[in-house]
Amino acid sequence: MSWHLVGDTAGFEIDQPVSIDVDGEPVLVVKTNEGFFAVTDTCSHAEVSLAEGTVTDGKIECWLHGAQFDLATGSVLCLPATRPIETYSVRVGNSENKTAVEVSLIKQEQE
Ligand code: FES
Repeated sequence: MSWHLVGDTAGFEIDQPVSIDVDGEPVLVVKTNEGFFAVTDTCSHAEVSLAEGTVTDGKIECWLHGAQFDLATGSVLCLPATRPIETYSVRVGNSENKTAVEVSLIKQEQE
């Protein structure tokens, strides 16, 4: 699995999503009290960025029509979206930098 450095842990605020281009893919990285999550930065309802969305309790609410997605699984928690969003593996720390936040673009299985 190849990992892409997306930042340092200190560069992320709790529940403040950050949109990052990872090898041409729009990825939303979110630091929460439960750890880091990475999902596609595209709402499955009308294809807008989720970066302006609101994060609470491990879910993100789309700013445009209010659909909600589970950050861990990508599953839809609230209409109008009906399709899940992609989730990616994210890890903190590697052998060289203990505060590095890295994302793998290999998509995780949806529930
Ligand atoms: S574009 Fe996200 S809920 Fe409609």
